[in-house]
Amino acid sequence: MNDKLGDWKRSHRCGELTAEHVGQDVCVMGWVQRRRDHGGLIFIDLRDRTGIVQLALDPDRDSASHEKAEQVRNEFVIAARGKVSPRPEGTVNPKMKTGEVEIEITELLILNRSETPPFMLDEYTDVAEIIRLKYRFLDLRRPALQNNLMMRHLVAKTVRNYLDGQGFLEIETPVLTKSTPEGARDYLVPSRVNLGKFYALPQSPQLFKQLLMVAGFDRYFQIVKCFRDEDLRADRQPEFTQIDCEMSFVKRDDVMTVMEGMVSEIFQAAIGVKVSLPIARLSYAEALHRFGVDNPDLRFGLELVDITAQVAGSQFKVFADVAANQGLVKALNAKGCARFSRKELDDLTDFAKIYGAKGLAWVKVTEDGWQSPIAKFFTVEELASLNAALEAEVGDLLLFMADTPAIANEALGRLRGHLGQKLGLASKEDYKFVWITDFPLLEWDAEEQRHVAVHHPFTAPLEEDIPLLDSDPGKARAQAYDLVLNGSEVGGGSVRIHDQAVQSRMFDLLGIGEEEAREKFGFLLDALSFGAPPHGGIAFGLDRLMMILTGADSIRDVIAFPKTQKATCLLSDAPNEVAEKQLRELGIRLRTKQNG
Ligand code: AMO
Ligand code: AMP
Repeated sequence: MNDKLGDWKRSHRCGELTAEHVGQDVCVMGWVQRRRDHGGLIFIDLRDRTGIVQLALDPDRDSASHEKAEQVRNEFVIAARGKVSPRPEGTVNPKMKTGEVEIEITELLILNRSETPPFMLDEYTDVAEIIRLKYRFLDLRRPALQNNLMMRHLVAKTVRNYLDGQGFLEIETPVLTKSTPEGARDYLVPSRVNLGKFYALPQSPQLFKQLLMVAGFDRYFQIVKCFRDEDLRADRQPEFTQIDCEMSFVKRDDVMTVMEGMVSEIFQAAIGVKVSLPIARLSYAEALHRFGVDNPDLRFGLELVDITAQVAGSQFKVFADVAANQGLVKALNAKGCARFSRKELDDLTDFAKIYGAKGLAWVKVTEDGWQSPIAKFFTVEELASLNAALEAEVGDLLLFMADTPAIANEALGRLRGHLGQKLGLASKEDYKFVWITDFPLLEWDAEEQRHVAVHHPFTAPLEEDIPLLDSDPGKARAQAYDLVLNGSEVGGGSVRIHDQAVQSRMFDLLGIGEEEAREKFGFLLDALSFGAPPHGGIAFGLDRLMMILTGADSIRDVIAFPKTQKATCLLSDAPNEVAEKQLRELGIRLRTKQNG
């Protein structure tokens, strides 16, 4: 039989009790982290979300509570009353917030019992993630996850306060809606009352927030779930949370400035870090040129150098051919890495191949010049000009990649990020922000033989590039911006098209015919024709921000009930089969192997 709570009332949370409370009678409740029997004395570490406090049970003080304490096991839920007292000399634990005190217990209740948990609920035990996710309610008792979710709450609260202060209104938008093109596959929900029709879960509230601007709400925000059926990675979930914002009568700089203020408040509130404003900006073209990618990690150098011109006339055919065929030859100087073993060099090559590279040429810079399989192909002059371009010194490792511009940039850029991690150049306590601007508006999709929007189809071109929409659309740049933090894209947005004619032209360029545009986005086109103000906005990935703020390695560690890489929930077993009757009501018949 468990004890009843009766008239007991909790007076303090466990982690709150310090030397200040010595002498007070308190009542605490929580979970048993650990029980230790020391001859007559029993000590219990009692835990709640604020921390752990030590309970001391002495049979000479109160034999009933001491006897009860003997039954207590890990994860039992108990309540205890007693007096806060200083710990005896020599037993103070400076690592604990409550380490100077203990509670001398006079009464104890066992409120509930627990099976033996399938894993230790401490910070030190490494547990397979499948087990953790299956017993997520236990995993979530661990201090690390509790702290992550408490910080997430603090961030959400800070965002709401800040945006409220800036005149933003929090307005909800529908979850059962129509497809919004953010580049992923939709999650579909069948409609029972409209047989054969489907809702799409929103990939973002993009269209609705634009409609709210047309409706005159001026500044909108929402901390909102978005759903995307895409390949999952360490920083991607099928349902994730955006801090979604939209503003009227603004230009790009206005949005960026307001958002910098928000980011700076978040960092101050959550981890006490001062973000120096304004945040640096880098054009997309420069980001690609210097770092190979549009989400560069600026915590370290290792910049890429374009050496196409230097090697165009060389005897090394791989490089000369690429140079002659509009390709790109790029290199980076891995300072001091000439010590890398053959195996390490092979690993770097394998890494680059993930991104489509055909090879990776390496050079160790030694006292006697280049040590490399490709050294023999270069003249003394070529060697000197390459050494100068790469600022090569004895002890350095030079890495070269020749390929199409897209592959050379991506593969060497990713390799740069990999090296930064491997060499320990990317400290988790260093926060390097950068805005990436002037993205191309469109990119060519070779598979579909048409242009696709780089950001989304509602992004406005730079005003000076509007004529290019007719003459050379691939060259037009967008009024889009991403906020990148330590190599992670934490936010992205743009100034929108608010002119119906430009929006129609954009659909046209994307190969979306008039009829299709009407069918898919008719409501937006209508809205744009009824006095749409100039507007723009942005959305931040709250989960990604939280990963960086908490130092978590996985996005799952900042989400209470996350999904696996296969988009399943191990706790609830979603997705699962449904009853035949439910399918019938929805007019759905599953294809099986028998009936094809
Ligand atoms: P975008 O598609 O760039 O823009 O998304 C905004 C931010 O959301 C985060 N994010 C994700 N986080 C976790 N898991 C995912 N699967 C995932 N996908 C995206 C990223 C990203 O920067 N409507 C536009 C915003 C706008 O134009 O205002 C949009 O959704 O951090
Ligand atoms: P090979 O002559 O093919 O043996 O190549 C000599 C060196 O050049 C090897 O170290 C290859 O990894 C490297 N290499 C081959 N193709 C490329 C490329 N496209 N870019 C950079 N290095 C390459």
